[in-house]
Amino acid sequence: MLDLTGKVAFVAGAGSVADGWGNGKSTAVLMARQGAKVFGVDINPVALAGTTEVMEKEGHPHWAAQTCDMTSSEQVKAAVDACLAKFGRIDILVNNIGGSVPGDPVSLTEEAWDAQFDMNLKTAFLGCKHVLPVMERQFETDGRGGAIVNISSIAHMSHQVGGRVMVAYATAKAGLMAFSRSTAIAYVKKGIRVNTVVVGMIHTPLVEHRLAKQLGVSEQELVAKRNALIPMGRMGQAFDVANAVVYLASDEASYVTATQIVVDGGVTAAR
Ligand SMILES: NC(=O)c1ccc[n+]([C@@H]2O[C@H](COP(=O)([O-])OP(=O)(O)OC[C@H]3O[C@@H](n4cnc5c(N)ncnc54)[C@H](O)[C@@H]3O)[C@@H](O)[C@H]2O)c1
Repeated sequence: MLDLTGKVAFVAGAGSVADGWGNGKSTAVLMARQGAKVFGVDINPVALAGTTEVMEKEGHPHWAAQTCDMTSSEQVKAAVDACLAKFGRIDILVNNIGGSVPGDPVSLTEEAWDAQFDMNLKTAFLGCKHVLPVMERQFETDGRGGAIVNISSIAHMSHQVGGRVMVAYATAKAGLMAFSRSTAIAYVKKGIRVNTVVVGMIHTPLVEHRLAKQLGVSEQELVAKRNALIPMGRMGQAFDVANAVVYLASDEASYVTATQIVVDGGVTAAR
């Protein structure tokens, strides 16, 4: 089940903001455990080095990493070319990059609005722009196209997540859902599937590292508050997200496209 042997995965945002397991890092490692060759990119070389350390410790020989700003078309193209030079093909693209800043239309600066769209939406657009032609060529050559998984958030359908209003993040992640569905249908006859994982409150290092500072609360207070909001009584783990990504990228999901899996411990249904 969920064997990725023979597949090459390009994971964008394969690092983690701090020590521990972010969603992209756990996805990259789980894909390697499932037999894929994995090419990970991240804007932060230190974050990427953390993933390399795990790959080496676990003994995954087919791992390559490259620093890349996924908001730069030039850099994305260079990374895609490097992946092709190293592994010869790309079967899986994971667009994991994202992050939120709080604010409503008045309090958000124009620069912050644009930066949120660049980070949460343009990165996926550029990933697809440069990888779709590769997958399409593969489909024409050997009948094996590819699978793309984009990472959205329950923020796209919630007014507030954890008590924060964040209109730019919510709007960009909603846009990512529409982008995924439209792209899926545009490429459905070309052997390429496109799906989304809609992520709830996950206990990644981002919670302690970034959110607690943004909200001005203690780490323990924030963790307790987020746990209490969830019907299951706890935040998810990064591997809960990675498991869903691996399924959507695998051949077991070969009839699944233009849809999403919500990984949120029941939060959205309980609202
Ligand atoms: N943690 C949560 O509770 C949660 C909830 C909902 C959705 N998500 C989504 O999950 C995804 C990953 O979240 P995470 O918590 O693992 O965060 P993370 O910050 O640990 O991981 C994201 C990685 O993306 C990298 N990155 C940022 N900008 C980049 C760029 N321009 N080019 C290349 N790399 C870049 C960062 O350096 C980081 O290593 C995001 O899309 C986020 O919106 C997370």
